[in-house]
Amino acid sequence: MGKVNLAVKVGRLELKNPVLVASGTFGYGEEYAQLVDLNRLGGIVVKGLSLEPKIGNPPPRLVETSCGLINAIGLENIGVERFIKEKLPFLRQFETKIIVNIFGYSFKDYAGLAAKLTAAGVNALEVNISCPNIKEGGKFFGTDPTSAAAVTKAVCEETDLPVFVKLTPQVTDIVEIAQAVIEAGADGVSMINTFPAMAVDIHTRRPKLGNITGGLSGPCLKPIALKMIWEVVRSLHIPVMGIGGIMSAADALEYLIVGAQAVQVGTANFVNPRTALEVIDGIEDYLRLHHFKDIKSIIGSVLIPK
Ligand SMILES: Cc1cc2nc3c(=O)[nH]c(=O)nc-3n(C[C@H](O)[C@H](O)[C@H](O)COP(=O)(O)O)c2cc1C
Repeated sequence: MGKVNLAVKVGRLELKNPVLVASGTFGYGEEYAQLVDLNRLGGIVVKGLSLEPKIGNPPPRLVETSCGLINAIGLENIGVERFIKEKLPFLRQFETKIIVNIFGYSFKDYAGLAAKLTAAGVNALEVNISCPNIKEGGKFFGTDPTSAAAVTKAVCEETDLPVFVKLTPQVTDIVEIAQAVIEAGADGVSMINTFPAMAVDIHTRRPKLGNITGGLSGPCLKPIALKMIWEVVRSLHIPVMGIGGIMSAADALEYLIVGAQAVQVGTANFVNPRTALEVIDGIEDYLRLHHFKDIKSIIGSVLIPK
């Protein structure tokens, strides 16, 4: 069998293969460049950026659990200006798509980030809406469809880049939020962000994280994410990037079969920095084994018994 086609289009974003690395787990790309051929990745989603630099939470910031990781980094980052000056020129050398994850605490923050990054020239924006809106009493943007839509609109008004809104799983009806952001102008959604969590040291009886609580990621997220994505895809038929506990090609394939058009590898980068490359190779092997010439044949191909 000849070459198999791995290229996908997620909304307006064209990727040479459907495997990206997830925000916050791959730094600004540079940190991994000695270990991973960045040219092979479908895309790099850069660590979340805010308008101003942020020092993040007190340590400890990471704790392992039986099936995942809890992090309370606190969105530490160098701020958008330094990113554009110091990190973006390096990233631009590679033949991969640069997607910048942004977060803020007001609609104005998000709009400002979108304007600056669009002028700087990146390939797409990913909007992290798992943040409190300080102007509205700390209510989370991502848990209310009206706020989620308003953030999306604020970003889309400032950019012509493809926009993906990253959804939090901590909601009652994820379809409602996904629909709200698509109607507000997003190209698609990234699903899912971490799930709020906590761990306690029984000997000191203190929380294991400096911030007390954090976000749970890793293999424990995958079944939850798969179910949410399946619901969103079957109800709305929209572009989705699947995220949560992808450790292998088999994990990524589950997401694609359920209907995600691309996937992001997160926590696995800490275990094996080359996971995303192994996922790409493993997807190709699977397609050959099952005689598919094009990745698009398996996206959304889940067979639901009648
Ligand atoms: C240490 C760490 C930092 C993260 N930072 C961000 C971030 O800055 N912005 C964001 O949207 N998601 C962030 N995430 C969430 C991941 O991008 C991803 O959605 C989540 O970890 C689930 O995928 P995984 O199970 O493959 O890790 C972070 C996750 C981890 C583990």
